[in-house]
Amino acid sequence: MAAATVDGRSCANQIEARLEPRILALKQAGVEPHLAVVIIGDDAASQVYVAAKQRACERLRIRSGMHSMSPDTHEAELAAFIRSLNEDDSVHGILVQSPLPDGFDELALTDLIDPAKDVDGFHPNNLGRLVQGRMDGLLPCTPAAVMSLLEWSGVSLSGKSAVVIGRSRIVGMPLSLMLGAKGCDATVTVVHSRSERIETHCRTADILVAAVGRAHLVTRDWVKNGAVVIDVGVNRIEDVGDERGWSLAGDVHPEVAETASLLSPVPGGVGPMTIAMLMANTVTATEQRQQR
Ligand code: GUN
Repeated sequence: MAAATVDGRSCANQIEARLEPRILALKQAGVEPHLAVVIIGDDAASQVYVAAKQRACERLRIRSGMHSMSPDTHEAELAAFIRSLNEDDSVHGILVQSPLPDGFDELALTDLIDPAKDVDGFHPNNLGRLVQGRMDGLLPCTPAAVMSLLEWSGVSLSGKSAVVIGRSRIVGMPLSLMLGAKGCDATVTVVHSRSERIETHCRTADILVAAVGRAHLVTRDWVKNGAVVIDVGVNRIEDVGDERGWSLAGDVHPEVAETASLLSPVPGGVGPMTIAMLMANTVTATEQRQQR
């Protein structure tokens, strides 16, 4: 039987609807949540992501400051700009769109962001809290999106085998901590580019998450019958049948639908949810400032 599809758009709509009363309460208290997004250069995919973030802010009436800087910007200028956003009391959330131009030290720049405004959840303080098992802070958006999709789909994690393909700082590593945290209680394996016999590990998974950025890497024979498969990949592939000449493909081959019980689509799965989680972090950061 073909896998059921995880409808990320519906789930994101529900998350956004739940944010509305919180945003209203803040506005009634005289506070307008404000997300500052910084983008450097003209990377096509980043422009698309940033535009989607801006549209979500508009939908929810969150103030968004879009700050485009030229590809020739020096790292010191970006650092100074981040410091100015830290100091600006009207700004509640700061996001520097990745990837940055070659040669930029992304980790050093992440360190500069005020952890209370770090709506990406990438600052060492926020990731450190996650290692401590504290899930009440600003969590990285894509891993939080995966967790929400699993919860929304009624997938029980306790005692299950979860395999995460990819060990990135943005997705794979924080997601493995969340899946294995107390209260979620999955048994987690992280496989990566140096892992031997990746497919053997994948075949043990009750829950398989692919986050590597390689189109259609996960084929049907990698997936146990009835497994839940979440596809985080967003890859542009050549597609002569599409008028643009390309289309988007996930890390999971469509044939996996024949084996899995549940599969998240690309597009329309994790993507819309990631943006909803960014909006949620922005609202949380604003509320937490109020409470300080
Ligand atoms: N580029 C791709 N995903 C992300 C993300 O979650 N945050 C930022 N800042 N940049 C990204």
